[in-house]
Amino acid sequence: MNIILLGPPGAGKGTQAQRLEHTHGLVQISTGDMLRARKKAGDALGNELAAIMASGKLVPDALIIDMLEERISQPDATKGFILDGFPRTVPQAEALDAMLAHSSLRLDCVIELKVDEEALVERIAGRYSCAKCGAGYHDVFHKPKVAGTCDKCGSTEFKRRDDDNALAVRTRLKVYRDETAPILPYYRAEGLLKVVDGMASIDEVTVEIEAALKAA
Ligand code: AP5
Ligand code: MG
Repeated sequence: MNIILLGPPGAGKGTQAQRLEHTHGLVQISTGDMLRARKKAGDALGNELAAIMASGKLVPDALIIDMLEERISQPDATKGFILDGFPRTVPQAEALDAMLAHSSLRLDCVIELKVDEEALVERIAGRYSCAKCGAGYHDVFHKPKVAGTCDKCGSTEFKRRDDDNALAVRTRLKVYRDETAPILPYYRAEGLLKVVDGMASIDEVTVEIEAALKAA
């Protein structure tokens, strides 16, 4: 099964992708996570990526398309994947189609997590993740079972993202409206798009996604 999760920043793409990875044995491919890992190198490209991402703008299509193509050609991607954060522009969606056709792969389902923008700022402001394994949490909506200890790996160190501030979030929301939302009609026309209410609780969203996948 190959799935795309679409939705604005804070919609819950990462949260739900981690669950699908667990329940369906799929691989989460998050271009945001890949870029955050790449920028750590601290070289010229890393610094350029850090500046673009901190501003909330998109990194150039050519760079991200190459990165994605390389990633889906890795052996683990044959288990099936969940694209989290890609495609984000019409040229990226077109490039994905070409890549899939080239590898005789196909998309099974595109899930749009539909959310109210006002709720997103609260979600993003409260978000943090485990510094060791990357498991995602929230100050209010998704706390670790034991306070201060990661449920998954037991680490006691956590981190927050550089672009999770009010200014960058406003830019990220505008970029989603202007550049990413235009790809939705394309997947709707293909009959692949399923809309899920991303305002429900995390568990309810998971149930809705499972139902959408069964119907796909
Ligand atoms: P990326 O990392 O993809 O960030 P994003 O799209 O802005 O999305 P987020 O990760 O912020 O949100 P999410 O939907 O994953 O929400 P989450 O599950 O964490 O991209 C970052 C940057 O990288 C971009 O701005 C760009 O610069 C660059 N980039 C990446 N891909 C690119 C591409 N393809 N092309 C060009 N540039 C690219 O949830 C948020 C919080 O809410 C969490 O704390 C969670 O616990 C909580 N939560 C989740 N669901 C619920 C719920 N149902 N109810 C209550 N709380 C919830
Ligand atoms: Mg994410």
